[in-house]
Amino acid sequence: MTHNEIIDKIGQLKKEKNAVILAHYYTRPEVQDIADYLGDSLGLSQEAGKTSADIIVFCGVHFMAETASIISPGKTVLIPAQHAGCSLAESLTGYELREWKKANPDGIVVSYVNTTAEVKAWTDICCTSANALKVVESLPQDKKILFVPDKNLGAWIQKKTGRQMELWSGDCCVHEKITTEMILAKSQEYPEADILIHPESNCSHDDRILNLPQAYMYSTAGMIRHAAASLKKQFIIATEIETIHKLQKDNPDKEFIPIHPKTICGQMKKVTLENVLEALEKEQYVVKVPEDIRQRAWLPIERMLKIH
Ligand code: 13P
Ligand code: SF4
Repeated sequence: MTHNEIIDKIGQLKKEKNAVILAHYYTRPEVQDIADYLGDSLGLSQEAGKTSADIIVFCGVHFMAETASIISPGKTVLIPAQHAGCSLAESLTGYELREWKKANPDGIVVSYVNTTAEVKAWTDICCTSANALKVVESLPQDKKILFVPDKNLGAWIQKKTGRQMELWSGDCCVHEKITTEMILAKSQEYPEADILIHPESNCSHDDRILNLPQAYMYSTAGMIRHAAASLKKQFIIATEIETIHKLQKDNPDKEFIPIHPKTICGQMKKVTLENVLEALEKEQYVVKVPEDIRQRAWLPIERMLKIH
């Protein structure tokens, strides 16, 4: 089948089956281009809750499809790339979190949404990179926060809010490689550019970065809003490289410079047009969370969605 034939067939099956395609900004450009909704983790969760489709084809990694299934239990959620995982979600099990909570009974557990349903089931409130500061600021001042699983995002929140926090030591294998030295070198090369940095990055909580006037910390959707609103012509993009596809499409007259050409999430790239078509044809791979865990995992997501 040619590229166009695959796209036509996907469109036809979507209509026949009342399906919707949700995709994250880190997926391949050709996958982003067929999405009904393209977004960051927060936007995708909100969209999963709103859609009237019967089937959600989730072009992203497993925890994202699982979150959609927790939010919309009445819908069939399909993940085209069955084994697309995430180093953050894999850094902590439900059992480990339960034990950590036991050792810190006075702590409030805030989980980044990049976690499994089992971890969410032991969580008090979830957050994404887009609403993390708001979520943490909404919690009682006198309470200690147990933040899981991203140590970089957690350290950034701690710096910005001054809250008492303990951090799990997980990281994103992609953003962990984005260092202060890389940012400083690129900003010397492009002194006129704004620098848009994802808070999962290794450098996100370094004062040398936080004090740079042209550096901004954003979720992927935040970067897209900033670039559209800014009068600047050049932007250094310190997150997964495929975000530039959307940035460039929206702003053809602006220049987007990747922080490094290898800032690539291989897991997100497992989603292809071919496996999206197969997902729709065979209604595979269904992501479903056992109902007892789903009900417990829904509460911290619901609390988060009420805050934003
Ligand atoms: P956002 O979607 O919140 O920007 O996070 C990026 C990410 O790494 C998702 O896995
Ligand atoms: Fe997980 Fe990092 Fe890939 Fe996002 S970019 S899915 S956090 S491994």
